[in-house]
Amino acid sequence: MHLEKLTLYNFKNYEDASLELSPEVNCFFGLNGSGKTNLLDAVYYLSLTKSASPASDTQNIRQDESQFFVKGAFIEKKNRTEIICSFVRGSKKVMSEDGNEYKKMAEHIGKYPLVLIAPNDIELIWDGSEQRRKFFDGLLSQMNHQYLENLITYTQILRQRNGLLRLFSERGMVDQDLLDSYDDRLVPAAKYIHETRKSFLKEYHPLFEKWYRQLAGKDAREKVSITYRSDLEELSFAELLKKNLQRDIVLQRTSSGIHRDDFMFSLNTGELKKFGSQGQQKSFLIGLKLAEFQVLAQAKKKKPLLLLDDIFDKLDDVRIVKLMALVSDGNFGQIFITDARSARSREILTEAGVKAKIFEVQNGSVKHIR
Ligand SMILES: Nc1ncnc2c1ncn2[C@@H]1O[C@H](COP(=O)(O)OP(=O)(O)OP(=O)(O)O)[C@@H](O)[C@H]1O
Ligand SMILES: [Mg+2]
Repeated sequence: MHLEKLTLYNFKNYEDASLELSPEVNCFFGLNGSGKTNLLDAVYYLSLTKSASPASDTQNIRQDESQFFVKGAFIEKKNRTEIICSFVRGSKKVMSEDGNEYKKMAEHIGKYPLVLIAPNDIELIWDGSEQRRKFFDGLLSQMNHQYLENLITYTQILRQRNGLLRLFSERGMVDQDLLDSYDDRLVPAAKYIHETRKSFLKEYHPLFEKWYRQLAGKDAREKVSITYRSDLEELSFAELLKKNLQRDIVLQRTSSGIHRDDFMFSLNTGELKKFGSQGQQKSFLIGLKLAEFQVLAQAKKKKPLLLLDDIFDKLDDVRIVKLMALVSDGNFGQIFITDARSARSREILTEAGVKAKIFEVQNGSVKHIR
């Protein structure tokens, strides 16, 4: 599977841009702020229906305009499918496949898998558990549609349940039947998510360790690991909800559940955040993403698009050479690479023998140069 053509209209700093892509390696070179990451974000929209950045859909409309659209043609086994994502300020975002609008965005997710390695991945290590849950949720949602459905259900019902707890707290009374009707839907969704996260990590962990080893080299002695922590390990969710009800009413929110799960990142016996060197942290992140690529490729029976945003900035020479060797071995499918320093990237690619289509990005315009 690859993206053959990409068109952007009033998207971020692009007014109108259209490009034909290579099914293999595509490089985007340009100065800081020229629009390299924005291009990758447009590809991210086509695959995952949203931005990889924290910017809202509205913020992604080009300044002073009222709508954006991103269009892409995916080629898969010689079939061509056109995906359009369009958003008009103040209305609902629309995604379509060959002209057929999706009723729910979730229906699209997972059809055109994608893995992004970007500078702000470091938040996975430095920030709280929410970022890590988001990463694993994103991955599992692409792999498994039922997981995504359960996650949507859980998030919706949890919000409603918290509203109910606020009401109970204000009124000083509890409507147990009403609460039960919410919990009856919340509990099975939580159980599914919990069990899927747990069993997934068993499959994912060895792949992650393998990639980490490959990047860090044979001589690296450190042991890296990911441990799943959940309230649901001690008691069933139904029991937890019952046990914590009085406290939850005081707090006006549900204080236990899979929305508090964490995936703990460790180096040897300590926390990666505290004990990992910068290089170890970077390798950990790339290990996470390459393992993501591998599980997605296996689950979908197609290679995800691989977007490498500013990756050369994050790695030392040894690791760059190793990563490029993997790239040139044909382990991956279509790749998008961005770099602000084109001379460095060209050198790296030439040395690794990687043939790439090169684009120059300049202030919201993109031009194929080689
Ligand atoms: N809605 C918008 N309208 C107009 N311009 C926007 C909008 N959103 C973002 N931009 C502009 O896009 C530019 C950033 O683009 P981008 O992040 O793609 O740069 P980059 O080439 O990846 O730079 P770097 O090398 O620093 O990573 C900024 O100048 C920003 O002001
Ligand atoms: Mg950038």
